[in-house]
Order: sequence, then C-alpha cells, then structure tokens
Amino acid sequence: MSKYHESPSIYIDEIELRVLNLNRSKEFYTKIMGFKVIEEEEKRVVLSADGVKPMVTLVEPENPIPKPPRRTGLYHFAILLPSRKDLGLFLKHIREMGYPIVGGAYHGVSEAVYLQDVDDNGIEIYRDIDEKHWDRKNNQINMVTEPLDYKAIMALAGEEKWQGLPEDTILGHIHLHVGDLDQAKRFYCEGLSFDLIMSMANSALFISTGGYHHHIGLNIWHGKNAPPLPDNSAGMKYFSLVFPNAEIREEKINNLKKLGYKIIEDEAGIFTKDPSENLIKLVL
Ligand SMILES: [Fe+2]
Repeated sequence: MSKYHESPSIYIDEIELRVLNLNRSKEFYTKIMGFKVIEEEEKRVVLSADGVKPMVTLVEPENPIPKPPRRTGLYHFAILLPSRKDLGLFLKHIREMGYPIVGGAYHGVSEAVYLQDVDDNGIEIYRDIDEKHWDRKNNQINMVTEPLDYKAIMALAGEEKWQGLPEDTILGHIHLHVGDLDQAKRFYCEGLSFDLIMSMANSALFISTGGYHHHIGLNIWHGKNAPPLPDNSAGMKYFSLVFPNAEIREEKINNLKKLGYKIIEDEAGIFTKDPSENLIKLVL
C-alpha cells in the first residue's frame, strides 16, 4: 500500500462512470482490464481489484448518449499497480488481447500507459518509481514525458501470465478537464488544501496532499470555459475523495462553504462540485 493513499493524505479511492451499454462495458472492464464484479444489478455493476473493495462503478443511465466533444469531466482515471513487473504483465496481456494502447510515457515519477475504454473514457495504468528518484525542489516535483521502455518492462513479465488486477491495486490519481485553471486552483488548493506540485505551460496543474507527485491533474485542453457533460452522457458521474477523519472533512467542507461552493447532502452521501461541475463525493 502506498503511503500517499492512506491517512493523513487526501486521496481518490472510487469512481463512478456512466456508460452507454452496461454489458459491453462490463466485458471490457473484466476481460481487458482484469476487474472482478462484486455487485450486479440491472443497470449497475460494481468492480473491484481485490474482490472486496469497490473501485469502479458502472451505471447505465436512462436514454444514454455518447460523450459530446470538448467538455469538462474525466480526462483519465489512473490505476496504480504495485510493481513494474505487474505493468509488464498487463502490457503483455493487452497486446495478446489486441486492445489498442493509445500512449505510454516515462514521467520521472512513474511509468504509464494509456488507453480509452469503450465509451472513450481515458484510463491510465501506471507504476510509481521509487520516490528517492523523484526530482523534488521546494515542495514541487518536476515530471517529464519521455519514451517508455516497453521492452524492458515487458521482459520482467517473463513467461508469466496476467491473472487480472493484483489485489493491492489502487486508484492512484485522477486527471480532469476543467474550464478554468485559476478557479480550479481556488477550489482544490484553497478549499480542499491540496498543494500545487507542478504547473505546465499555463494549461495544466498537478496537485496533491502529503507530498505525492499528484492525486489530481487539471487541464484546460478541452478549451477555456468548456461546458460540462449532459447528465445522461457517457462519462464520469463522480469520483470520491477520502479524508483522514470526520473533523478534517468538516473543516474542508466549511472552507468550501466559506469560499461560496455548494455542498450537497443526500442519502447517497456528501458531495460537492468543482467550478467545472465535476462531482466529488467526500468520504471517510
Ligand atoms: Fe495521469
């Protein structure tokens, strides 16, 4: 377990996605991604890496429509594998399945590959490089995008076969499209006390708590003031942020309220929306 994904960090642990066709998505997430189904209803499937803890929930809404272009919402969610060898096993598996990888990179802090699910939701699968090699300077971390050594990573898998996601796989970070970086920074950094780790060419921010390279990426690559997705569109419904305890969650909720952001409480839990209407569940 990563120390950046437990108390006292504030981290992502679940995501809910709206999908066009539940069966099609279930097939993709189990056969290609290696998740286990732990709950299943007519229009809802809950997926887990370890068979116990929910990680990704798929929901088919009424009259679903494909994701329209140039909206805010999910850029990708990122699945953190426990080791480089696990990344090699996944790479070998996905090549054998013939599913397209859309990119891969060495980021200085991690090695990552990228794909799109069947509804065009972005997924990153990565492993963290030992943090002693991270390029830290004054509470910032320099991340790079360089070619990935696929050959070396896949060589680690040897003759072994992928057996699905390892039990200690977690959601490592999330990367969102937003309509305005200053507004996003105010919400996440002032409201929720995330630290700014890296700013990229005035088009993306990487933020975290507890010194991680990033728990959240934010970009304006879908355009300044991009509108949110319609409610029945494929895409992210919400992601969850885990707080160390009820007092800290309450303190952050009060911060958000003071800054003018809405808190929504209903039987499903406590939620807020960032300024680009990305819905966030605030959990313990
Ligand atoms: Fe990412």
